Amino acid sequence: MICRPAAVRAMATRASTMTVARRAVVQGIPSLSTLATTTASSPVFTNSTNTAAQQRFQSTAAAVAEEQATTGTSKAPKTFVPTPERQYENFTNVEITADGVAIIRFDCANQSVNTISFAVADEAKTLWAKEIEHNDNVKAVVFASAKPGTFIAGADIKDIKACENKQDLVPIIEDGVNMFQKIRAKKIPLVVAIDGVALGGGLEWCLWCDYRICTDSPKTKMGLPEVKLGLLPGFGGTQKLPQLVGVQAALDMMLTGKDIRPAKAKKMGLVDLVVAPASLEQVAIDSARQMANGTLKPKRKQKSTMNKMLEDNQYGRKIIWNQVEKMVNKQTNGNYPAPFAIMQSVEYGLQNPGDKGLKNEREQFAKLAATSESAALINIFEGMTAMKKHNFGADAAVPVKNIAVMGAGLMGAGISQVSVEKGKYNVMLKDRDDAGVGRGMSLITDAWKKKLQKKRMTQYQANINTSSITPLTDDNPVWEKHFSQADVVIEAVFEDLDLKKRIVKEMERVTPEHCIFASNTSAIPITKIAEGAGRPENIIGMHYFSPVPMMPLLEIIPHEGTSDAAKATAFEVGTKQGKTCIVTKDVPGFYVNRCLGPFLVEVSALARDGVSLEMLDKSMTKFGMPVGPVTLADEVGIDIASHVATFLSEADLGVRMTGGDVSLLQEMVNRGWLGKKSGQGFYTYPKGKGKKKFINDEVKQYAKMFVENDLKLEEKEVQDRLVSRFINEAAKCVEDEIIESPEVGDIGLIFGTGFAPFRGGPFTYLDQVGVTQYVDMMHGFADKYGPQFEPCQLLKDYAATGKKFRN
Ligand SMILES: NC(=O)c1ccc[n+]([C@@H]2O[C@H](COP(=O)([O-])OP(=O)(O)OC[C@H]3O[C@@H](n4cnc5c(N)ncnc54)[C@H](O)[C@@H]3O)[C@@H](O)[C@H]2O)c1
Repeated sequence: MICRPAAVRAMATRASTMTVARRAVVQGIPSLSTLATTTASSPVFTNSTNTAAQQRFQSTAAAVAEEQATTGTSKAPKTFVPTPERQYENFTNVEITADGVAIIRFDCANQSVNTISFAVADEAKTLWAKEIEHNDNVKAVVFASAKPGTFIAGADIKDIKACENKQDLVPIIEDGVNMFQKIRAKKIPLVVAIDGVALGGGLEWCLWCDYRICTDSPKTKMGLPEVKLGLLPGFGGTQKLPQLVGVQAALDMMLTGKDIRPAKAKKMGLVDLVVAPASLEQVAIDSARQMANGTLKPKRKQKSTMNKMLEDNQYGRKIIWNQVEKMVNKQTNGNYPAPFAIMQSVEYGLQNPGDKGLKNEREQFAKLAATSESAALINIFEGMTAMKKHNFGADAAVPVKNIAVMGAGLMGAGISQVSVEKGKYNVMLKDRDDAGVGRGMSLITDAWKKKLQKKRMTQYQANINTSSITPLTDDNPVWEKHFSQADVVIEAVFEDLDLKKRIVKEMERVTPEHCIFASNTSAIPITKIAEGAGRPENIIGMHYFSPVPMMPLLEIIPHEGTSDAAKATAFEVGTKQGKTCIVTKDVPGFYVNRCLGPFLVEVSALARDGVSLEMLDKSMTKFGMPVGPVTLADEVGIDIASHVATFLSEADLGVRMTGGDVSLLQEMVNRGWLGKKSGQGFYTYPKGKGKKKFINDEVKQYAKMFVENDLKLEEKEVQDRLVSRFINEAAKCVEDEIIESPEVGDIGLIFGTGFAPFRGGPFTYLDQVGVTQYVDMMHGFADKYGPQFEPCQLLKDYAATGKKFRN
């Protein structure tokens, strides 16, 4: 139910989409999905080279075979040239054109995407030494991918993780850099042909080349997203990118980790040419040939006068540095070391170009790889990747084309928007009347208008999207005909059990047998909604977070009788809508709100113990939360926060919901202080752009009324009291099997609440602090403040055995 505040969702959104440029620095975690992934499963040794190309060029193996055949050194019949044996695991066989252009295609075995692993680098060395280095016939090289629509997705994180002493990464990276220096030492043109993603180590590979050509495919994007894993581009990226695109643009790319699309890449000088996918390889070969014979010379983008003044002298650079440092400090709160290391590496490289700069870069990389922040961010990335799979059966999901959304309010509109925009589903959006459905449609079309203005969507896409939604109301009986085509219904009407049950009945009447019914209830047990249903096995909970287009998490809640088909369908629909899905048991608050319950009670307990509202907020933002609890309550709405707290107080959490008095919230509701939406909550929100919120005297006096005994608590104790309530509940959810694993628990709280990403979520944090110490601390709090701090059995067991939750 909880509507997350702007700051939380901004954080979580950055976490998931990383679309925000400067502001996203580091706090952003995920769209890690586009980084190297090892979950791939394409057939081994797929070579997608088309037959025309195969006819045009001969692989060296084929050439040898043909030569053997014609010289009679082979027993093979002269008229038949056998398909050459694949020589490499990670590359297709090298092909060399008659005029000396060698084509080297990445094609990592057993993976649907190419990644740069230590093994790939090793094999590249062998390939180069064997086929190119001493081959005087080779006049130029084209690097490409044999996998259509993907160039190189990044470096293989598994290698980095597996390296126990991160210092060992220094010589390994040096080896890779030496390989490129050797490649360049042949002094022949190196051209790279990019179709699909070229990220991280993949883009760094391109940066070592002389000429970059990419396709205009929507799949093509380039970036250095290492910062999202708490790392820096260690394979020459911090040294080469500023030379190519300028210091400011390079810092922007590396500090945000954002993707660059083809048109922008051309404009900023990251690539030399943009072509259609069908002509990519031919253009790359032609360009390589022309570079070799001197008829093509790459033109570097000229800097503007202003950029020259800023970037090409130490005074100008000082201005840039000051500004960037200020921004990074503000965005990271000092919690993320990677952006600082990126800045250092770029700055050092400008002063010490060449080998010294590269050496410093890899040393910085190894240092970052050893930090707890990087380990935490890598854990999140891996968790996200793991969460893309479900175990309800590969073919269990019903095929979904049409989604019916009931209720065009805030949630229904958001669900419709992501269903169309991301999921590419047809949506039927129904409310009671024109006014209701009109409100929902306006929310959606306004969102798309904004995207259009910001050039994040084309007019064509906006038109297609709009035509994919059919608004329907009770006033026109034609809605039943539309709903008879629905594969999934997602219900987002008022939070009222009778109404929801009525809708189940109505849906069972008008929708086909296979249609899955999902409820977006925030609190009503799914079991209750399914009671009396004709097809209870089709009923499931899909709990979205508000605002739906921004928040990356979806909780999927089966009841006991939900079929695997319904579970798999909900999972696949949620994933296509761009959500990271976690499955939770059908209990009050599900997972995320259940954890927020004890946390909210503790906020009131701390207010009672004399902690000021400002300190409550500050202590949590310092811990790494995107906003403090007071701001959170204001942004969520005091009425909603009060409802959640009261609801969970009456649920099954027992002593864990005691220790404070959440009636403080109810009294605020009675006064009309509903938070940001009413202009007055804990903070006052003055109207007018740029005006800052503040806590006024009336609210201060009000808060003081609740102080029983000012304990003059230190900030650390405030943090520990709040966070331990959160963490204990998360652990209890694992103990009670409400969620499947600590990994799910980490992802759920980071994506659902913005839990300090650099700490990796509650369980990674516990491991980092030490479960034993944490349990001791909680026992201390239990003695001092009461049984609400008693750690759950699981925590005590882990503490007793010294076990870790992750790794
Ligand atoms: N707002 C949140 O932060 C949030 C988060 C998660 C879940 N939820 C849950 O999602 C559901 C909807 O919440 P919301 O915030 O969008 O509410 P809302 O009040 O904005 O929208 C509800 C919509 O349902 C429509 N409606 C009511 N009865 C209907 C009927 N019989 N047929 C068709 N439409 C009908 C209403 O006209 C209204 O437009 C609730 O169950 C809520 O608990 C809300």
